This record gives sequence, structure tokens and C-alpha cells, in this order.
Amino acid sequence: MHATGITPPQGVWWKPAHKSEKVWATIAFVWCMVLFAMMPFWHLRGGQNPSGIRAKVDPLAYQARVMEFIQDYQVGTDAGFPVVAPPPGSDVYLIGQMWAWLPVLQLEKGAEYTLHLSALDVNHGFNLYPFNVNFQVVPGYDYGLRIVPTEAGEYGVVCNEFCGVGHHLMVGKVIVTEPEGAQ
Ligand code: CUA
Repeated sequence: MHATGITPPQGVWWKPAHKSEKVWATIAFVWCMVLFAMMPFWHLRGGQNPSGIRAKVDPLAYQARVMEFIQDYQVGTDAGFPVVAPPPGSDVYLIGQMWAWLPVLQLEKGAEYTLHLSALDVNHGFNLYPFNVNFQVVPGYDYGLRIVPTEAGEYGVVCNEFCGVGHHLMVGKVIVTEPEGAQ
């Protein structure tokens, strides 16, 4: 008989599943539940998925906020980029744009900051080199993270979201210094 949308094709799919198929379906379902339970578990125990502060923001307003932040706390320049040393406990701002991160942040080891990430133009990816720290940086959204630098040194901010021909050049910097008086 000719199979159409009205007359179903011949087949065996309505016959009871074989025992081994049921076993595999059960294993797959149990594994789905394990992965599902791991999402809240890792959020609470592993710290891989930090609770950030999310807010909508106008990209140009965010850029203006970054410029103000640079004016307030600039302490020097590094390869033409402003180096900004905000006081411990403050809100710090980083903007991703084609194809740079602004500014260079100079933070104190052991101090807490709220790091704001946003983009001016397109999606960028914040990767703190050499650590496995990755965040999406999205225009129109201000993503705030509470951070405490734990090791002094110089770190790269590598864009890990393809953002155009200059993507591979989009490398910023974070400098972590020993707390004042501890040297
Ligand atoms: Cu910014 Cu890739």
C-alpha cells in the first residue's frame, strides 16, 4: 500500500521495545538526571558557575562609565593602554571592543573587587590566561563578578569569542600586586 500522511507506513516501531533497548533508555535517562543534578551541585560546591550580578546597560553608557573609571584611577600606561589601580573593595570596569580590552587593571592580592564586564560592539570572550576562567562579554549587558585575586603577577586577558579580523590580537592585561605594606 502507498504510504501517505494519512496511511502510516509499515513498520515495527509500535511493537514493544527489546529488553536491551529498555536498558539503554533507562541508563540514558539516569545519566540525564545525574548531569541535571550536577548543575546546581557544581554551582553550590564547585564554584565553577559563579553567581554574577546581571544588568542591562546601554553600550555607550557603559563605555562612558569605563572612561570615567580610567580618569579616576589611572596610574600609568602599558603599551599605550591606561593602567588603572582602583581602591580595594571598589567596582572595577573592563570593556571589550574590536579589538582590545580596556583598561589594564592593577589589582591588589587578597582584596575583593566587583569586576564588571561588558562589550561595546559585538560578543567577546573573557579568558584570564593562564587560568581556566571564562566569561561571555556581551554588548548591552553588564555582568558583575565578585573576585578576589589570590596570586600576584601579570595575567593576560585573551578574547576567546571570534569577533572579526583582529580577534587574535585582542589581548588585555591584569596586574595583581602584593598588598601595600606586605612587600
Ligand atoms: Cu574579541 Cu575575539
